Amino acid sequence: MPRSAHIRSNAPRILPSDITPQAVYQERRQWLQLMATGAAGAGLAAWAGREAMAQTAGPGKLAKLPGARSAVAGAMSMDKLSRYADATGYNNFYEFGTEKSDPAQYAGSLRPRPWTVTVEGEVGKPGSFDLDQLLKLSPMEERVYRLRCVEGWSMVIPWVGYSLAELIKKVEPNSRAKYVEFISLADRSQMPGLRNGVLDWPYTEGLRIDEAMHPLSLLAFGMYGEVLPNQNGAPLRLILPWKYGFKSAKSIVKIRFVEKQPVSSWTESAPREYGFYSNVNPLVDHPRWSQGSERRIGEDGLFTKKRPTLMFNGYADQVASLYAGMDLKKFY
Ligand code: MTE
Repeated sequence: MPRSAHIRSNAPRILPSDITPQAVYQERRQWLQLMATGAAGAGLAAWAGREAMAQTAGPGKLAKLPGARSAVAGAMSMDKLSRYADATGYNNFYEFGTEKSDPAQYAGSLRPRPWTVTVEGEVGKPGSFDLDQLLKLSPMEERVYRLRCVEGWSMVIPWVGYSLAELIKKVEPNSRAKYVEFISLADRSQMPGLRNGVLDWPYTEGLRIDEAMHPLSLLAFGMYGEVLPNQNGAPLRLILPWKYGFKSAKSIVKIRFVEKQPVSSWTESAPREYGFYSNVNPLVDHPRWSQGSERRIGEDGLFTKKRPTLMFNGYADQVASLYAGMDLKKFY
């Protein structure tokens, strides 16, 4: 995590109940840094105001998007939330560059409105939905999901959206719709990273239809009570908490229902590294990264231990039945 992100935000969102020696140490360090950079005045205001701040409060820069607490089983993780500054400053969104800080720096050129999502393929009711139609399609819920990246870090984020199943039911898939493909925007005029060849654009992901219909599969429009910042995949994206983060496609423009298993961008680029399923599994290592433990962003002090990674990222009770009888080493 880039340290500068903390200094710039100058508002550590820590509640008195969360204070641990580690947090005290970090805050003191930030305080000393603020003094050193001459930003003590601003720092003092943040220091005084932080306890009054709700933990899920965003910076108040984007439009509000409230959601009712979700009743879906497993949807409300009790883990401590990641800081907004980390969730919006440490990102993977290769359409804007490959560094973690690139999306926050360059995604300002993305135009999340007007926005249309086209639904096509094996459905009774194909068509186009504009963003306002999608926002009204189902009541918004807040869900606190743990998201585990294949690179070995994780965050805990309060997302706002509704189950992808709500949209799927509206378009009436037919019996040939065995898989769903999700295609992200690929527009060079808005996305400077498309000029590099790391992936074959557009970014494409896929799910089996029963995975897509699972109530935990979230179509997200917001986070921390506000609409999604561009770097997090505005105006709408997937969040699949039991799968590695790269399955959760951002800035989606097309959803296609198909009979054959689609090939995702990452599988196409490195088939031995990224399988179709990509369920979080501490027993199956990625060729370059161990999957047995993870670093929770925001907890990464010098003496902080890594957390053990849980099967299906801790969502096994909800999703393990989707994979009953499957060899998860083979179907990684
Ligand atoms: N979607 C698109 N279109 N492009 C991307 O590069 N990166 C993925 C996923 N969705 C990516 C994407 C990866 S690797 C991760 S870990 C998550 O988005 C990161 O989401 P976040 O930045 O909101 O934490």
